[in-house]
Amino acid sequence: MPSVQPKKLKGRMFSVQAALPKYPVAPLEQTMKKYLKSLEPLLSEEEYRHTEKLCKEFQNGVGKTLQNKLLERAEKRDNWLSDWWRSVAYLGFREPVVINSNPGVLFPKADYNDIQGQLTYASRLIAGLLDYKVMIDEQTLPVEHLGKNPLCMMQYFQVLAACRIPLEKHDDWTCYPPDRPGAPKHITVIYNNNIFEVPVYGGDSKPLTTSQVRDQLSEVVKQGATAGEPIGLFTMEHRDNWANVYKKMIQDKTTKAALESVQRSIIVLCLDKSNNTMTDARTVSGHQMLHGRGSSYHTGNRWFDKTIQFIVGEDGYSGLNYEHTTAEGPPIIHLMDHCMKYISSGKDWSPATDVKPPTKLQFNLTQDVSDSLIHAKENADRMVSDLDLKVFVFDEFGKNFPKSQKVSPDSFIQNALQLAYYRHHKKTCGSYESASIRMFQLGRTETIRSCSTESLEFTRAMMDSNVSKQRKAELLRRAIDSHKQYTNDAISGKGIDRHLLGLKLTAAENNMEIPELFKDPAYTFSGSWRISTSQVPAKSESVLFFGPVVPDGYGFCYNPQEKCILFGVSSYKSNSVTLPAAKMAELIQDSLRDMRDVLAATMKANL
Ligand code: COA
Repeated sequence: MPSVQPKKLKGRMFSVQAALPKYPVAPLEQTMKKYLKSLEPLLSEEEYRHTEKLCKEFQNGVGKTLQNKLLERAEKRDNWLSDWWRSVAYLGFREPVVINSNPGVLFPKADYNDIQGQLTYASRLIAGLLDYKVMIDEQTLPVEHLGKNPLCMMQYFQVLAACRIPLEKHDDWTCYPPDRPGAPKHITVIYNNNIFEVPVYGGDSKPLTTSQVRDQLSEVVKQGATAGEPIGLFTMEHRDNWANVYKKMIQDKTTKAALESVQRSIIVLCLDKSNNTMTDARTVSGHQMLHGRGSSYHTGNRWFDKTIQFIVGEDGYSGLNYEHTTAEGPPIIHLMDHCMKYISSGKDWSPATDVKPPTKLQFNLTQDVSDSLIHAKENADRMVSDLDLKVFVFDEFGKNFPKSQKVSPDSFIQNALQLAYYRHHKKTCGSYESASIRMFQLGRTETIRSCSTESLEFTRAMMDSNVSKQRKAELLRRAIDSHKQYTNDAISGKGIDRHLLGLKLTAAENNMEIPELFKDPAYTFSGSWRISTSQVPAKSESVLFFGPVVPDGYGFCYNPQEKCILFGVSSYKSNSVTLPAAKMAELIQDSLRDMRDVLAATMKANL
């Protein structure tokens, strides 16, 4: 299914939509030049010369044809990349969405520790969601900006009542937007592995009040006292396995209707039991949000295909998990920030009338499907046990320190991640940071290749006791400037990775031979993101996290606040090359401190 758009663009949410520029196709020479520069810190002299030769041949040969075809595609579409991207990055991706693609988010801990508090918190969260939904439905959300530039708001229109559908080889997704007849008025609630359809609007179409939602949730808890079959585990499967089971499940009319109810629902709410954890509860709850902690804990209490799953624990920890096909972190985080504010606002709706009670959804599983559930459970537990995570707050400074030094906080943090990696691995690696290209119509992300010649020079100098603090500070500032320049290029359509992907896909789509440039080991190596990162800022002290994208890599996500930085760090336990997440977290903190010290010392020296 292509991108879902409102039938009519009306309110302020889309007031600048038509005026947004189209995502450009960068000039070929520019991309080749930047691509080569990005390889400098990663390749030997000999490897570099080889790739340089391939770039020249490509630029003067088949690259020209591909570039022209790509320009033709761009001419005909709102965005030449968006459909390809949804397909290549998400729907065509066959590994399990959990850990590999769906991020988890941990909210600030709430002040309750029992089921009564849990239900009250969850109902406030849902009331806040419905308040936010009004702004999507009526298109009154304010337009988001990056600096002074307005951003495309279409992702916001696709995050509610949306779901991924498993199909063999290539999934599909579905969305039931508010401006179509029969728009959904219910959420899915999962409790004790039982799945419920729960109306959150009355027969009068009014949203339920907090206490009305709470009554609905109490009824769910009553009806769900006995544990259900953990069929949510299927959504953690390899996509082809899940597609195969799904095909069998929809043969049964009742089961098909139950699955459709989940797909159509506005969101999924997972009511989890307590983790009963005293040590590092933040990290334990991070695992809970990312993958559910396995079949003995909460993983069966999920539906990972759903675009938004709110997860509310009995112990005051809550968060969410989201399926990435339709949106990046920022729209989800804005929604979450709105709900956080709403929870403590004291606002509420006036009571709705004619409220229908929750319905427990019926899944009739054949023996064959039940057998598959045993495999799904084993696979899920294997994945869960391999993922190492550390969620922490670095509280010695936040954005305030780099700002006081007149440098970009994001570029400062990215260089700290480079330094942390170098400290242990004594080399650098392909490094990914997501940059928003929502300045363009239907824009998603571009890659910031955050490892550069400048960052490598800086990290080497930091580990060399013979280099003066003054020199280290100079090299740090240069590395930060280089990263900031790359960022500015990436967000304004002058990045390289999406363009290179577009050229490669153009060749495939036209049944042309894949050019040598894309068979070059340097292309694979440099795009093998051992450092995979993203900044996801939030107003609240929430933090997002995701799994590494290669076995010998790390996932780093951070939310820089004014006076602290929240981090989620991940690695795989089975990998012998990478460090445990907690150890890497220590190196990140050491790096941030050392970088502060060199900048602060040189500032004093310059006074
Ligand atoms: N001196 C003083 N202050 C500076 C500065 C400097 N040289 N450079 C930047 N700052 C300030 C900025 O004005 C900004 O101020 P604010 O806190 O008042 O808003 C702040 O520092 C942050 O700027 P910076 O750290 O440079 O980052 P950014 O906000 O421009 O973000 C990206 C950089 C790459 C994260 C952003 O462009 C982006 O693309 N975000 C989306 C990423 C995404 O989609 N992630 C989700 C993937 S799932």
